[in-house]
Amino acid sequence: MNNTSEKWKHVWITGASSGLGEYTARKLAEKGCHVSISARSEDKLAAIAAAHENISAHPADVTDGERLKEVIAEIESAYGPVDLCIFSAGAWFQSSIKDMNVENFQKTIDVNFMGVVKSMDAILPRMLERRNGHISWISSVAGYGGLPNAASYGATKAALIHMAETVKPELEAENITVSVINPGFVRTALTDKNKFPMPFLMEPKDAAEKIVAGLEAQKFEIAFPWQMVWILKFLNHLPYWLYFKLIKRLV
Ligand SMILES: NC(=O)c1ccc[n+]([C@@H]2O[C@H](COP(=O)([O-])OP(=O)(O)OC[C@H]3O[C@@H](n4cnc5c(N)ncnc54)[C@H](OP(=O)(O)O)[C@@H]3O)[C@@H](O)[C@H]2O)c1
Repeated sequence: MNNTSEKWKHVWITGASSGLGEYTARKLAEKGCHVSISARSEDKLAAIAAAHENISAHPADVTDGERLKEVIAEIESAYGPVDLCIFSAGAWFQSSIKDMNVENFQKTIDVNFMGVVKSMDAILPRMLERRNGHISWISSVAGYGGLPNAASYGATKAALIHMAETVKPELEAENITVSVINPGFVRTALTDKNKFPMPFLMEPKDAAEKIVAGLEAQKFEIAFPWQMVWILKFLNHLPYWLYFKLIKRLV
């Protein structure tokens, strides 16, 4: 037992069959928390759970709100109340708006944004009743402002930052902590398909450490690496004429 596992006996992570969700699950399990992991790939979840006694697998598609409620009932009856949630499930389709694909827009909204809304809907009534809990979701530095070739992804990530800002004061009054996690580029299956240079690319293990440290510190925004964060925050404070002049170089 350490401070982390005393504070969070039970953690639920969506999108935990790979990448940031998986590494964060492993990190928290190493610290003694019980971590219930969800995603669609049953085989990957089972393999991760088999390798760690503190991890259990609970397959779910985040677009299926009823299944998410079943998962919460299942994991809380087996491992006790969920103290911390990390909603990491996400999808990314890089595309120029000239090749607009409405289906990909819909999928991105359904997984990245509505997936978080439905996951929150599954756990929030229980946390409100207990007046206790910590909810977090993974947005992105791509949510700070419009970036080329990321119209659907960026829009969902901006919506996630906005939603976190919106719900934080109300939930804080109910003793529920809210955190939004904004990574830059991290080497995962999601970014492996990127053909463009990815400045300040991080390893998922290092990103998971930043996530856990930020959650332990109860930070509202957990953003990294600092170079990427500050460059994009700076660009997004510029007047639009200058912002677009600089951003145009990325097209
Ligand atoms: N990597 C980066 O550079 C980066 C930067 C900023 C933000 N992010 C965000 O970080 C989060 C994790 O991404 P990652 O980089 O770790 O990529 P990843 O390795 O591809 O992980 C994505 C996870 O989401 C799950 N998922 C996708 N659709 C789902 C659905 N409908 N229902 C349930 N789970 C679903 C995937 O599992 P299944 O396929 O098994 O369902 C997988 O576990 C995403 O929200 C992403 O947008 C990543």
